[in-house]
Amino acid sequence: MDDVGAYIDNNRQRFVDELVEWVRIPSISSDPTHAKDMARNAEHLAARLRELGAGQVAIWPTAGHPAVFAEWMRATGKPTLLVYGHHDVQPVDPLGEWTTPPFEPSVREGRLWGRGVVDDKGQVYIHAKAIESIVRTSGELPINLRMIVEGEEEIGSANLDALMRDHARELDADFVCVSDTAMFGRGIPSLCVGLRGLTYVEVHVDGPAFDLHSGSFGGGVMNPVNALAQMIAGLHDADGRVTVAGFYDHVLPLKDEDRAQIASLPFDGAGWLRSTGSPAPWGEKGYSTLERVWARPTLDCCGIGGGFQGEGAKTIIPARASAKVSCRLVPDQEPDDIARKLAAHFARVAPPGVRVRVDFLHGGRPYLAPTDHPVFEVAKRAFSKAFGKPTVFMREGGSIPFVRTIADRSGKPCLLMGFGQPDENAHAPNEWLDLENYHLGIKSAAYLYDEIGKM
Ligand code: BES
Ligand code: MN
Ligand code: MN
Repeated sequence: MDDVGAYIDNNRQRFVDELVEWVRIPSISSDPTHAKDMARNAEHLAARLRELGAGQVAIWPTAGHPAVFAEWMRATGKPTLLVYGHHDVQPVDPLGEWTTPPFEPSVREGRLWGRGVVDDKGQVYIHAKAIESIVRTSGELPINLRMIVEGEEEIGSANLDALMRDHARELDADFVCVSDTAMFGRGIPSLCVGLRGLTYVEVHVDGPAFDLHSGSFGGGVMNPVNALAQMIAGLHDADGRVTVAGFYDHVLPLKDEDRAQIASLPFDGAGWLRSTGSPAPWGEKGYSTLERVWARPTLDCCGIGGGFQGEGAKTIIPARASAKVSCRLVPDQEPDDIARKLAAHFARVAPPGVRVRVDFLHGGRPYLAPTDHPVFEVAKRAFSKAFGKPTVFMREGGSIPFVRTIADRSGKPCLLMGFGQPDENAHAPNEWLDLENYHLGIKSAAYLYDEIGKM
């Protein structure tokens, strides 16, 4: 492992340069005009993995964008680790707010700036470069390793279930490792032990057959924008709780020990608030900010539209309005159940004079890690060895649908070993990757493989 550490140090700059080449490919999964880039993106990764002596590298087509699979299975008698990541990225708008173009990655302030640098291309490369460092120094990996890098994570992983069913044998492993989360803070190695799930719906409210003159018809028919605004405004009560009937039915209450563990983390509430730019924190009464964003279910209107949006005034009763509504879920809430409850809620609260339709866009289930499994101590050791600091357990409020799916299907523990930073601007303009985290992340992954090899 000393050789490996030295190799990683000696190749620090090249590892960044190679990541830059991959980040240049605009692999935006949500935009059909980038479908060719998605394919090119998968081929680029597959080619790099092929150079690392993988026994098999394959591009797995799906009904949507392809996934990349690779395996190194020569460590007879050793455990098998499945590494998951995603090669698709979020859209880049508003483009004008980027300091440097999203697909022309550049280094400033010890950071690499560009779309996908941390979510998730940099974190996929952390594993690829750890594999390279071991293969080039000792010849073989100390464990069996399989890697799946999907191309539709940012759009809800609609084809992942089918992929996992069709390739169940190739995805078999003793442990799973996902690097697609952030660390608790700068230099603090953090294992994420909980993710929230997601239910995403779109609500359509229809009124008149076409936009009406608001002088001639205003006051005589229900206005869909007024109706939708009223429906959205009623989704929370004065205590910040969601008013949808049955929403909290299956929520596992936070245990005292979980609350104590979360409270023990060095959370800077004022700094966190400053990083948001919001004037004050808000949330469900009776919970701290970290509890609210990690371990309590929430509902948010992500977008709303309808009626006249152009310049100046136009006097109409709009024909329709719509809103995108997402719920973050915690164990044991189920995305389908929450979607049904949302649909029933909107149907019930819609005022007379409009028609309401609720479309289900996508969902994913929440995850809580079995932290009493010995592999968590092993991962803590590897992570701490690279960063020179004790590893903490944390959760994330975001969602990675694969994690719960593979955990349920395989019964194996999933390590969420993430190397992002809380203020990394994922999904936003000016996404960045901390280059020290990238470097130490490669060491962490190499040490993890080594430690698992000794289990
Ligand atoms: N890497 C994120 C998940 C994440 C978010 C981890 C926040 C840590 C903090 C992932 O790429 C993501 O964006 N997931 C989506 C999932 C959705 C599209 C199903 C999310 O959380 O919105
Ligand atoms: Mn991600
Ligand atoms: Mn993401």
